[in-house]
Amino acid sequence: MKNKHNFIGRNLYDLDDYSADEIIAILEATSVMKEINERDYKKLPTLRGKTVCTLFMENSTRTRMSFELAVNRLSADLVSFQASISALSKGESLQDTICTLNAMGIDLYIIRHRFPGSPQLVHKYSEKPVMNAGDGRHAHPTQALLDIFSIWERLGTLKDLKITIVGDIAHSRVVRSNLIGMKKLGANVTVCGPKTLVPGFLPEIYGCKVEHDLETALKDADVIMGLRMQLERQNEGLLPSLDEYTKQYVLSKRTIQFAKKDALIMHPGPMNRGIEIMPEIADSQQSLVLAQVANGVAVRMALLFLFLGGK
Ligand code: CP
Repeated sequence: MKNKHNFIGRNLYDLDDYSADEIIAILEATSVMKEINERDYKKLPTLRGKTVCTLFMENSTRTRMSFELAVNRLSADLVSFQASISALSKGESLQDTICTLNAMGIDLYIIRHRFPGSPQLVHKYSEKPVMNAGDGRHAHPTQALLDIFSIWERLGTLKDLKITIVGDIAHSRVVRSNLIGMKKLGANVTVCGPKTLVPGFLPEIYGCKVEHDLETALKDADVIMGLRMQLERQNEGLLPSLDEYTKQYVLSKRTIQFAKKDALIMHPGPMNRGIEIMPEIADSQQSLVLAQVANGVAVRMALLFLFLGGK
């Protein structure tokens, strides 16, 4: 696979470091990987001899499994670090942990951590390329890339689409990376939720619209993305109650009618069914939820291929 952009040796902290052309190049590489994933024999020898280390220090199902599957599909070696059974739990520092792993010959790190900026620290200690698999509330660029790919493959472009993202915008790293990537590709993004969950400064930084009324936010939307209501934050007093949130903002048969007739329905997962999205919508013909998961494997294969210089 030929590519005019050079990704080799770079870090993927967030999408602001990548141009629209580079994002399109990643989407094109993802299409190729998707074709490979549809074959009976899904494995390529392209990254044989490379070693990838996953460091998941916060829970994950989709991101971790799809990254690890992607490493295996491209025939790289995988080292999967388990914080709870490592020497970190005996008090070893992150710096010593990374230097120790590095001495074993890691070529690329993938990290999820609750602290924003942890991918940059891993790069500082290792001097190896690092991919951000979610750092605190800051960024989740590979989720944004798979979301963008899922729209791009269905609709052919993001230019001038109306994309409405509904939910807990304030605490979402997914929304921040999506706002950067979607804007670069020319989409008009509206974020919607209660005032306590939608920071007012977002339009100035990301060029999106803020709307607190769901019907107005969804009017003529081409794409609707629900976000997980972060139940662990309910004691922060940001909502009167979950029931109140659901009454005003749930994606349901009734509320999605405000959008275009065949609007795509997305959710990065994990979902709280019956809180931010009703099951009949999550499981509907219009829903891309499982397509997003499948595309997550292909996009992560494409990233590993490009960043490790696959042939
Ligand atoms: N969307 C997402 O990041 O899911 P996981 O937490 O399961 O990886």
